[in-house]
Amino acid sequence: MTGSVSVAFFDEQFRKQSHDVALVLNPFEVLALPFLTGEVLDFGCGMGNLAFAAASQGCTVTALDASPAAIEHIHAHATATGLPVYAALADLRDYPLVATYDAIVSIGLLMFFDCARAINILADLKAHVRPGGVVVVNVLVEGTTYIDMFDPTDHCLFAPMALQDEFEGWTIERMEFSDFAAPNDTLKRFCTVVARNPA
Ligand SMILES: C[S@@+](CC[C@H](N)C(=O)[O-])C[C@H]1O[C@@H](n2cnc3c(N)ncnc32)[C@H](O)[C@@H]1O
Repeated sequence: MTGSVSVAFFDEQFRKQSHDVALVLNPFEVLALPFLTGEVLDFGCGMGNLAFAAASQGCTVTALDASPAAIEHIHAHATATGLPVYAALADLRDYPLVATYDAIVSIGLLMFFDCARAINILADLKAHVRPGGVVVVNVLVEGTTYIDMFDPTDHCLFAPMALQDEFEGWTIERMEFSDFAAPNDTLKRFCTVVARNPA
């Protein structure tokens, strides 16, 4: 759908997984979950594990991603469980948000766009969170040496404090850096921020 290297990379992985998915949250989703209430947007939802966990605790979730395998899986799981997770296939590189939300979460997506676009999208996410609501965002930062899943000309390794800077005037509820070993002695270095829109 997007022709993007990263979407093809994840779609292939998801297609292998989708018949046998353990709904296990990754560490960033575990961090995000307690902050999710009300109407939630999961922007770059992958297989929807966080979306279903949030729906199980009472949220209504809109889940967007460009991977057909992921969206097919979410549709099937939402039908099977009756949980309020509404998934749509979307290229989030250029996606017009129209509604506002109590929480917007974007875990592991923005680094797949060039830095200027990623910052513009983050500004748009902030603009669509209601007063008192939260944005949870997770990106790869400088120091990351694992680049196999990136389009060589179209990605962003954020400066370490870039996310914090983008949330000036908001309350930073959490900010965490975490390193994960990657293939061939490489490294993935993440920053995760939970920021609250001043009421
Ligand atoms: C690292 S995964 C993260 C998925 C999920 N948030 C999680 O934490 O497991 C990155 C996700 O971004 C999606 N993605 C990458 N580029 C995209 C694009 N242009 N539009 C929509 N989704 C995209 C991929 O399909 C994949 O689901």
